[in-house]
Amino acid sequence: MGLNSARIWALVPAAGVGRRMAADRPKQYLKLGERTVLEHTLDRLLGSRIYSGIVVAVSEDDGYWDSLSLSRSHSVSRVTGGSERADSVLAGLNFIASIAAEDEWVMVHDAARPCLTANDIRRLRDSVANDKVGGILALPVHDTLKSTAAGRIEYTVDRTRIWRALTPQMFRLGLLRDALIAVAQAGRLVTDEAGAVELQGLKPLIVEGRPDNIKITRPEDLPLAAYYLERQRCE
Ligand code: CTP
Ligand code: MG
Repeated sequence: MGLNSARIWALVPAAGVGRRMAADRPKQYLKLGERTVLEHTLDRLLGSRIYSGIVVAVSEDDGYWDSLSLSRSHSVSRVTGGSERADSVLAGLNFIASIAAEDEWVMVHDAARPCLTANDIRRLRDSVANDKVGGILALPVHDTLKSTAAGRIEYTVDRTRIWRALTPQMFRLGLLRDALIAVAQAGRLVTDEAGAVELQGLKPLIVEGRPDNIKITRPEDLPLAAYYLERQRCE
């Protein structure tokens, strides 16, 4: 068996409270058309048919998960997330470690990114499948970037080197778990999986993704996601 035959697991952190969204419930449970954001996201992952299983990390006091029909799917497992995103991801990795080998792949994907396409999933998989480190979907920056201090511009940043990190982020189970445990033990904070791997001195691969793979963060992002989903239906 070659490297390409290693199994791939999907891990969806969905234990956030959505503070910036300021809605009456966590944003992953807001409706986007007929279904919740989280259902859209899980449908995209299930539809790609490349995963051996999908693990969703929800918060301890989550009162919504059980009402989703997907919560009863045999392909989807629930774990309890933690207070930071990295804690939720580590909880999911610990679960996967109980059923998978260290060298199997994990793709971590935000619950709040429902517009991910099957094409982007496959491109990430094919780009990273033979990589020693792993990699992430990312977007080049088009705006001119300024570094500032006290409200004034200090200099213009060279944007040709700057990318916006998206998800999924794909790493081998053992490598990512070790990296996140090291981060936790050092009391450091990372905002994505690549950040933890970088702190190990490794250099994850950048794979250009689609710009409509947005993270629903603020109220205005919800109609934007609805628009992108509609547009994708016509592709
Ligand atoms: N997440 C998680 N566990 C946490 C925090 C976040 O699983 N303790 C998840 C969120 O549910 C989301 C993803 O990580 O799917 C990206 O995080 P973010 O967009 O920051 O979501 P929230 O933390 O919920 O939003 P906010 O930061 O505005 O409170
Ligand atoms: Mg957050």
